[in-house]
Amino acid sequence: MTSSAPIGVFDSGIGGVSVLRALLAALPGERFVYAGDSAHAPYGEQGDAHVIARSEAVLASLRRRYGIKAFVIACNTATAAAGRTLRERHPDLPIIGIEPALKPATLVTRTKRVGVMATRVTLASQKFRDLHERLSGPVEFILRACDGLASAIEREALTEQQAQTDALINQHVGALGPLGDAPGQIDTLVLGCTHYPLVAARIQRQASLKVNLIDPGEAVARHTRDILTAKGLLAAAPPSEPVLELLDSGDGQSLGAAVAKWLEGPARSAVLQPFSV
Ligand code: DGL
Repeated sequence: MTSSAPIGVFDSGIGGVSVLRALLAALPGERFVYAGDSAHAPYGEQGDAHVIARSEAVLASLRRRYGIKAFVIACNTATAAAGRTLRERHPDLPIIGIEPALKPATLVTRTKRVGVMATRVTLASQKFRDLHERLSGPVEFILRACDGLASAIEREALTEQQAQTDALINQHVGALGPLGDAPGQIDTLVLGCTHYPLVAARIQRQASLKVNLIDPGEAVARHTRDILTAKGLLAAAPPSEPVLELLDSGDGQSLGAAVAKWLEGPARSAVLQPFSV
């Protein structure tokens, strides 16, 4: 592992682009390789065994092909289902995961009612249940498995049709109960799937402008920078082109569109390559 190697970033599809955006801002001197596994998505509505097998296959392939120096699991579902297994199998590689930001939410909520939007697999995981149990009490968390929402966001990246995503946002946010800053209302919403920050403005509008939205993307980017710094793995020289390589196990059309829409600078024109894994 050398400091000039790229950082691997991984999600089932385009959701990790919300984390990649924060990583590019926090680590401007680094090269990245982003892997989307859209041929095997959505992860959030399948079994743990599938998510573990896919995450391991992607990680092994990025190590072989790119000799990555760190692996950012930019997917709450994959972190919850596979994070521990990956760390056990790759003890020499820095692996950074993402989890629903319940702790930060407890620090900002005033009504002590917090909504959590995430996938079914994330909410059912032992890792999430432990976190939830540890922090519940002073704060009440209202959990919502947002079936279909990540897939709708994938489709929308390509078609620009917002109606289906908006209907699901209305359905899932509506099911949480009253939102606002009055006593008894949910005043904080945790975006516990990396796809959701890509439509944060519309979730915010549906929820109420008085509600805090919590997206851990920037915290994950800072954490990644701290780990690379501590291990002496920050790139010593400015990155050679390309700054970003894009891989997708599916046709990659949504990923290409998402990158063009949400990233800036040279990363925006990254060329997409097939990823047979
Ligand atoms: N982006 C993933 C997450 O953060 C989930 C998407 C999926 O269901 O595949 O949980």
